[in-house]
Amino acid sequence: MKIVAFLCTWCSYAGADLAGTGRNQYPPDIRVIRIPCSGRINPIYIIKALLEGADGVMVSGCHPGDCHYLVGNYFARRRFVVLKQLLTAAGFDENRVQFTWVSASEGARFADVVKDVTQKVAAAVEHEATQGENARAQGDGSLVLTQGVAQGDGSLVLSAGLAQGELIPLCKKLLEDGTVDTVIGFQIGGEMGLSLPYFVSSPDEADKFVWNNRCVPMLADYLRGKQGKTAIVAKPCDARAVVNLIKENQLKRDDVYIIGMSCDGIADSEGKLLPACADCTVKTPPVYDVLIGEEKGTQGENASFPNGLRSKTMGTGSPVTQTIEPSPCLDSDRFQREMEKCILCYSCRQSCYGCYCKTCFVERGEPDWQTAEPDIGAKMLYHLGRAMHLAGRCVECGACENACASGVDIRYLIKSITDFIEETYDYKTGMDLETEPAMLTYKADDPETGFQCFGKSENTSNTDTEGDITNTGGVANV
Ligand code: FES
Repeated sequence: MKIVAFLCTWCSYAGADLAGTGRNQYPPDIRVIRIPCSGRINPIYIIKALLEGADGVMVSGCHPGDCHYLVGNYFARRRFVVLKQLLTAAGFDENRVQFTWVSASEGARFADVVKDVTQKVAAAVEHEATQGENARAQGDGSLVLTQGVAQGDGSLVLSAGLAQGELIPLCKKLLEDGTVDTVIGFQIGGEMGLSLPYFVSSPDEADKFVWNNRCVPMLADYLRGKQGKTAIVAKPCDARAVVNLIKENQLKRDDVYIIGMSCDGIADSEGKLLPACADCTVKTPPVYDVLIGEEKGTQGENASFPNGLRSKTMGTGSPVTQTIEPSPCLDSDRFQREMEKCILCYSCRQSCYGCYCKTCFVERGEPDWQTAEPDIGAKMLYHLGRAMHLAGRCVECGACENACASGVDIRYLIKSITDFIEETYDYKTGMDLETEPAMLTYKADDPETGFQCFGKSENTSNTDTEGDITNTGGVANV
């Protein structure tokens, strides 16, 4: 077996050394890579190792509170927990990736950890192989996905005329009195009734603004790099994206005027709710300068959804109760099947408000993540890597699947970590301007879901009995 082990040089690597000098024996299946801190691990290293043929990956750092760089392992812990959720949603056995803490003085513990990890990875590999056989034995008929049914047959009727009647005078006024330099909204003109983005700088041109159930494109992405103050006709997902862009310093709040549009969902060319809109619970933009339409709050817990889907109440921090639970066999096969459809055209990336890196990780030469051949491994790397980049940043607009010409449904993967982050860290992207994004912060008592547990370590320095750091005075703000 091959298990890639990323070990922090300050603790676990020294612990491995001590295991050697102390003659503590452990299985010879690990290939050690020395790293400066567990916080230095890019999740894509782990994904790449698995896709390149590693049976398992283990990451070990300093105990919480002992990181040489003070808080590197706290940030790492959130990333690892979310990555594990993502890999599990993609069909990897949860035990193929293991995280743990081992200090420099714990040679015997290091040996125990490796023994345990080796056993778990071996069981995971065997389990995955069995799963694959079961899925193949079930045949295609068993792979009907439940999520698509969530669309139901609900066609949409929006009070577009009413909203439009308010929208046009408002846009004219904003341009006339100089509140904004430009308004970005929608005009008719696309194929099959699709409304198109429309940029207006003169009040005379504002009559063409429309608001209807075919306003599919996300407009938030057009705001980045725009000069002057700009108003945006914002669906709730657009408004959430604007909020997140402000938090990520891509926009200044003072440069944006949010015309919030109360929204019942956007429809496809046949009048049925788009899948993301069928799942959406945020019906009113959480942040706006002016709201058009009624304040809808959020879909209540008692609202009925097709296929047993039930969603949460907005902004209260109550947990999501999304109940799509495909069997492990279906889940594992699902990712493979979606990847077979993908042609790596990157439309999902281009349509995503959150994908704005100048050079996407798949196109970087150093390190060269992608293989020359667009094989299934390259596709998996891209989609899993992108999903991790969107952890805690996705606003669930569905632009990725709307843009995909091959019909790849990858939103379920990102949704699984979006829901997980909401449940675990009580964070929903773009709902307010104050809350720190979940992946950019940590708590000393964050759950270690999926971590190796070997009983309480003797090394508890800097950690009080309740698990909080005792010396965080200024550390939390580093
Ligand atoms: Fe070891 Fe940060 S230095 S985890």
